Amino acid sequence: MNADLMDFRGLNLLKIRVNLLNPRLSVSQQLKYFRRRVKVSETKVALVTGASRGIGRGIVLELAQNGFDIIGVGRSFDPNNTEKGLFEVKLRVEELGRKFQPVQGDIFSLDDHEKILRESLDAFGKIDLLVNNAGVAPEKRLDILETTAESYDRVMGINARGPFFLTQKIANQMVAQVKKGVSESPKIIFITSISANTSSPNRAEYCISKAALSMIATLFADRLTEFGINVFELRPGIILTDMTSVVKEKYDKLIAEGLIPQKRWGTPEDIGKAVVALAKGYFDFSTGMCVEISGGMNIRHL
Ligand SMILES: NC(=O)c1ccc[n+]([C@@H]2O[C@H](COP(=O)([O-])OP(=O)(O)OC[C@H]3O[C@@H](n4cnc5c(N)ncnc54)[C@H](OP(=O)(O)O)[C@@H]3O)[C@@H](O)[C@H]2O)c1
Repeated sequence: MNADLMDFRGLNLLKIRVNLLNPRLSVSQQLKYFRRRVKVSETKVALVTGASRGIGRGIVLELAQNGFDIIGVGRSFDPNNTEKGLFEVKLRVEELGRKFQPVQGDIFSLDDHEKILRESLDAFGKIDLLVNNAGVAPEKRLDILETTAESYDRVMGINARGPFFLTQKIANQMVAQVKKGVSESPKIIFITSISANTSSPNRAEYCISKAALSMIATLFADRLTEFGINVFELRPGIILTDMTSVVKEKYDKLIAEGLIPQKRWGTPEDIGKAVVALAKGYFDFSTGMCVEISGGMNIRHL
């Protein structure tokens, strides 16, 4: 096999000629040899947004336990703080024997998307999995009759517009990787919410952003099948994190009264485990699939 690679991003290669002399090597052996030559990690690399805490942290730790190296994106970035935030997560990942590259970036900002891609490729040379997890709730819950344009634009910008354009950028990178044989069947996962199809008129902009993100997942799934890139949606229910800490007492009571059939809060680990199942390829004939992780809130009963 002969392969010429021109200026492959992140590998700092102007031109590499790979000559595999042994035609008896299997395709995967050839890929392995090729990756070694171009210094691309053989370990799968996952880019997780909102990796500093909550659900994103849970996803990162489950992926690391399952052999992934991680690029973790967050807004706050303090290398001196190893108690909390991206650098705490870095320590935990390294304890698990895997690598973690912290990247500062705001998903709202398209300029930051370029930085995220560049720093990811500088660190690992490829991205095998993108998990679009970062997201925000409205700063203040307001009735739909009073929703402000500022809050609408902020929530839509971070929860829908940002992940759309970040995914577009990373998807193009993944397509290039597939074409060049650098990675096999990359994947993209969107963390939406049961709010994608559950009405909460006191945070309309959040529900709208998650419904939009759900369609974004479907659209990329549709477009990327031709490249063997599977795209999935995970729809968490009520998960105990900073985001829900402000309504903890309210939900404790509702859960005790039977709101969630499985009668408990969801945890970041619940979501992380589902990400691992998708990332490891156990659902490889199911692109475009949406999985709800809500302790049975999806059950309609009389
Ligand atoms: N908790 C739930 O019950 C629940 C339910 C359904 C869906 N979800 C969804 O799950 C995702 C994670 O939620 P969570 O509960 O883990 O929230 P969280 O505890 O508030 O954590 C949010 C994470 O997103 C990051 N983030 C926020 N805005 C960002 C931006 N503009 N750019 C980059 N990173 C940003 C934060 O980074 P910094 O630390 O740097 O701020 C943090 O890592 C969200 O998309 C949320 O909508 C949550």
